[in-house]
Amino acid sequence: MLNRLALKIGLLFFVFIIIIETLLFLTLYFTFVNERLDDVMTNLLARGNTHSEVLEDSFDAATLNHVTLMESASDFIVIITDAAGNELANSDFVEPEMREVLAHTNFEQTPQTGGIVEDRWNERQFIATDSPIMINGTHRGHVFMFAETNHIKQMVSHLRNQFLVVGLIAVGLTVITIFLLSRLITMPLIRMKQATEQISKGNNQVKLNIDRNDELGELANAITTLSNDLDRLKNERNEFLSSISHELRTPLTYIKGYADIASRPNASDEEKKEYMAIIREETANLTGLIRHLFELAQMDHNRFVIEKEYVSLDMLFRSVADLVRPAFEEKQISLSILAEPDTTAFVDRERIQQVLLNVLDNARKHSPKGTCVTLAAAHDEKKVVITISDEGEGIPEEDVPFIFERLYRVDKSRSREYGGSGLGLAIAKEIVESHGGSIKLQSERTKGTIVRIELERGNSLAESPAGG
Ligand SMILES: Nc1ncnc2c1ncn2[C@@H]1O[C@H](COP(=O)(O)OP(=O)(O)OP(=O)(O)O)[C@@H](O)[C@H]1O
Ligand SMILES: [Mg+2]
Repeated sequence: MLNRLALKIGLLFFVFIIIIETLLFLTLYFTFVNERLDDVMTNLLARGNTHSEVLEDSFDAATLNHVTLMESASDFIVIITDAAGNELANSDFVEPEMREVLAHTNFEQTPQTGGIVEDRWNERQFIATDSPIMINGTHRGHVFMFAETNHIKQMVSHLRNQFLVVGLIAVGLTVITIFLLSRLITMPLIRMKQATEQISKGNNQVKLNIDRNDELGELANAITTLSNDLDRLKNERNEFLSSISHELRTPLTYIKGYADIASRPNASDEEKKEYMAIIREETANLTGLIRHLFELAQMDHNRFVIEKEYVSLDMLFRSVADLVRPAFEEKQISLSILAEPDTTAFVDRERIQQVLLNVLDNARKHSPKGTCVTLAAAHDEKKVVITISDEGEGIPEEDVPFIFERLYRVDKSRSREYGGSGLGLAIAKEIVESHGGSIKLQSERTKGTIVRIELERGNSLAESPAGG
């Protein structure tokens, strides 16, 4: 429970409270005690002065008696002496300490207004003042006033106790604070630490029930998101691996099957030729699949360099068309190109060519003969948009959202007619996105498909340094 962070914060809090309390205590203590002492002293002196004034008016036995009588009823003690310090009268019993005060007084030098002769309240039993009696400028005697220091001592110890209580309350508050801090800050942190440990052990289904919207809540949310992402990635990887092994197993089964039949003694030469052709085709498909997988793996590891240059789309389209034209002609599909001569994109020529070949290959494979496939480019200030549209069979609505996923094919039975691996569009997407562009597919069953590729636009060829 008392884990380290809470303890640290708690102790810090405690130290601050103690410092603040001590400062407060010292200031209050000294101000308070001094003020009280001043009060008592002034009071005592004023009382002595009053007596001395009365005695100045009539310095006789009756007045002396009167004054001592008055003080014997009060908390104070009065001793009246003559100018040399000999006691003339006193109100109460004279303690030895009082005599000491008298003995230590310099009777010649007391100021006319009177003064304090003993103020060590914490050491002595009495504090004392001295008010001289002056009659017509001659020094006639002294009025010594004494007050017990008990009251002051009691008051000070009371004050000290109160501060002690406050100190104890501060300690209690600190303990509560440490407890609350550990619940509020460190407990969630510990839970998150445990969660991340779970994640690194491979358990990605962590639930962090930290329902708060401060930084800790955000951290908890980030960890939950991370764990969900990891979980998704793990599932994707597993799915991908099982699809891959399936993809590899199917053609290998074909190859083995046809090789077995072809090697039977009763197989005719013609049959053998036919089977060999199938085996060659399957091997080619396998090679293509493996090449695609390798490319994707490179892209995933960012080991894939994009060398951008200014490319004239018109020229790029022509060279792509030259490459695919034989295949299109064979299937009697016409291919038209629409690009203004000055449409330029800032791209990696080889990679974009690969994308176009993939998409055009799809269009060709999924279009019936006699239809038309169009490859067009348009541009605005910043972007170039390439569209590849066909009039083929289209893609069912429910398949469109997944069409860019790896190994995703509409025709799940691996028909040899199409022979695709389902990686073409996934690769195209990786390439376009690593250019900072986007690729989208729109399709309608029996009407055809449009693929839209958005890329960064280059300057016109004339201005561009690389010259396309
Ligand atoms: N123009 C299109 N018309 C109809 N269906 C399409 C079109 N383009 C793609 N598809 C569907 O999308 C699927 C995925 O295409 P993708 O290019 O990724 O893989 P593939 O063509 O099957 O294989 P590969 O390109 O790796 O040889 C295809 O199998 C096909 O079912
Ligand atoms: Mg394809």
